[in-house]
Amino acid sequence: MRSLIDIVDFSVEEVYGLMETAQDIIANPARYADSCRGKKIATLFFEPSTRTRLSFEAAMLELGGSVIGFSEASSSSAAKGESVADTAKVISCYADIVAMRHPRDGAPFVAAQNASIPVINAGDGGHCHPTQTLADLFTIYREKGRLSDLTVGFCGDLKYGRTVHSLIAALSRYTGIRLVLISPNELKLPEHIKTEVIKKNGMEYVETTDLESVMPELDILYMTRVQGERFADKSEFLRLRDSYILTAEKLNNAKRDLAILHPLPRVNEISVKVDDDPRACYFKQVSNGKYMRMALILKLLNEAKKDPVRAPLIHADATSLIRSGIRCQNDRCISAVEQELEPLFIRTEPGKKICRCVYCETAAEIK
Ligand code: NCD
Repeated sequence: MRSLIDIVDFSVEEVYGLMETAQDIIANPARYADSCRGKKIATLFFEPSTRTRLSFEAAMLELGGSVIGFSEASSSSAAKGESVADTAKVISCYADIVAMRHPRDGAPFVAAQNASIPVINAGDGGHCHPTQTLADLFTIYREKGRLSDLTVGFCGDLKYGRTVHSLIAALSRYTGIRLVLISPNELKLPEHIKTEVIKKNGMEYVETTDLESVMPELDILYMTRVQGERFADKSEFLRLRDSYILTAEKLNNAKRDLAILHPLPRVNEISVKVDDDPRACYFKQVSNGKYMRMALILKLLNEAKKDPVRAPLIHADATSLIRSGIRCQNDRCISAVEQELEPLFIRTEPGKKICRCVYCETAAEIK
């Protein structure tokens, strides 16, 4: 049985396969109207969401299935102290597939280790958001006809923006992608993503604080919201939240076929006047996301039917797992609050001290 926790859990070919299915659903919706008759998705949203949750729900309903779930942690047993592992075991008795959003990095990973149904990560803390990436890739593909040979600008909160982290990981698998990373110094892309994703895959990249100076180079501009909920210091958030506001004037020197993406919700990073520009793709992105989630639900349910046995999710082979007893230092990691979770690390390179937490990928030095 498969789950989708990190976008790289799926191969490039599998992502193409999902895009093909999504395209077929768009062309022949009636053919899919009963594909999930009798199946239930549980949407477990421990953190606020509008589009992602409704997108999963709409996706399942359009496939003929039904939906159960909750949209805030306070209405679930987590408020009574239930662990993610127990929630996953319980929900496996009610539903056929689960989409989980959680404020803690690594929570859907823990759910997938304990559920007997496929688990979809619908966003975990500041870590990753693979189904938004599926929506982003499909949008780029539909707008540009390719996922290679593109200059992609990421603008805004590159530190906490989980959609940015997942999309960069996904793009690192295509050729000729050049990244332009536009952010205030305080919100730069985490160092480990630069070394272990961008540099490791030989991707070309530049970092800048100035959006306007790089605008003419971009094929894609991925705007993001400053993630207020992830700042320890609220005054820093207030100082940084309006760092970039895309206006119609700023687009004057952009390419005529630029595609502007934003995972939404928009706060004020993009002026509403830009919405009428044909280069604005963020509402199309919402619709593309629903079709990709339909394709994903179909794929995971089909695979679960063929192979109902839960496969261990840990990416490296078990011999590189480190059980040192040292706890993860990321205070947003699920292992930081659920004390019964065994601290587990993976050595990224043999012989090096740097290891990564299996739940949230935060680095730790272990001899
Ligand atoms: C994003 C998220 O939740 O990370 N939203 C979404 O799922 N479309 C982006 C955001 O909240 O800024």
